[in-house]
Amino acid sequence: MPGTELFGSEERKEILDVVDNGVLFRYGHDAQRNGIWKTREFEEEVKKITGAKYAHAVSNGSAAIAIALAASGIGAGDEVIVPPFTFIASIEAVLFLGAIPIFAEIDETLCLSAEGIRKAATPKTKAVCLVHMCGGMADMDAIMQACKELDLILVEDAGQAFASFYKGKATGLFGKAGSYSFDFFKIATAGEGGIFVTDDEAVYKIADAYSDHGHNHEGNNRGMEQHPVLGFNYRISELHAAVALAQTRKVPQIREANRKNKQMLTEILAETEGVSFARIADPEGDSATFLNFFLPDTETAKRTVAELNKAGIGGFNYWYTNMYHFINQWDHLKNMQTAAKLPVEILGCPQDYKTLDLPKSQEVVGRLISFGIRCTWTEEEVRMLGVGISNCVKLAMGVPAVG
Ligand SMILES: Cc1ncc(COP(=O)(O)O)c(C=O)c1O
Repeated sequence: MPGTELFGSEERKEILDVVDNGVLFRYGHDAQRNGIWKTREFEEEVKKITGAKYAHAVSNGSAAIAIALAASGIGAGDEVIVPPFTFIASIEAVLFLGAIPIFAEIDETLCLSAEGIRKAATPKTKAVCLVHMCGGMADMDAIMQACKELDLILVEDAGQAFASFYKGKATGLFGKAGSYSFDFFKIATAGEGGIFVTDDEAVYKIADAYSDHGHNHEGNNRGMEQHPVLGFNYRISELHAAVALAQTRKVPQIREANRKNKQMLTEILAETEGVSFARIADPEGDSATFLNFFLPDTETAKRTVAELNKAGIGGFNYWYTNMYHFINQWDHLKNMQTAAKLPVEILGCPQDYKTLDLPKSQEVVGRLISFGIRCTWTEEEVRMLGVGISNCVKLAMGVPAVG
């Protein structure tokens, strides 16, 4: 959790600015706020890092992806291709808009593959909700080509991939709209927070209004006369935006440290028999929040997780450790355990989630081991961790470990 590692005077200063003038609301109150607009500043900082034309901060990353989908025109009855490996928020966002998630295969990028999208699409499929996992990115040239061929709207959940780029372009900006999360576990955190991005002015205007009950915000105030769309309350508070602002300014520094530490760990583990790495579609663009590697089979991965636990080293497998990121843990989805009936139950779904077979995704996630990268590690700590992980893999593979 790199963002949380660097909490300090910068976050304190931004929060105190807000507390001192007492305006916790992001809109209006111009006279009292002494020129303090933290949400606006946070949005500008995100635009600077990502190159997005428009950014709109909201309460969390789940809200941001729901807004991205809605502002892109996804709604009741629309079929949306989703990955089986993501935080459940991406699927919930589709479901709670009344749309129908259609699962497709991921590949060694840990993201949806173009081939998976082509196989899963039906004549009724309207969009793809692509999720860039673990700080990396999907194979964007191939994904864009598949979306173009199939005439699908692309929306990107880059909740885990703020400050990751593919061929110089930020994840989240390839499709109609995208989202990032600033929750407690991300490269930069506000405790809770999220942001919507797009290069399309019309989509931005809808998102801006939709996230605040349909109010238009001309001049950053809250126009009461015009309501371009119905919406809901997904607003962020100035306090959260203040923390997000301080954290976002640290992202280039965090990213650089992460990349250095990940590189060192990768070099150590590359020497270990049986280890191969998740594919980064553009290694230069990796935000390096996670090291993801594969073992030859799921049984070896399972044994490695057991050895890592025994050694107190950490690391996890999204299949065997209940991280709630893979479809095999989503019984509530399979059984439609919801507070109230969802359109998918009324309209039907071309897939039966209970019996759905996704062998490639099972194989990829089953063999995967992930480690969160810390930006404050010393070289010695990285070296010790690398040797420790390597030894656990060797024990799991039945190869003698070294000290
Ligand atoms: C891919 C992805 N999308 C969305 C979210 C939801 O973000 P938040 O926790 O800010 O609502 C997460 C959170 O982990 C995530 O990993």
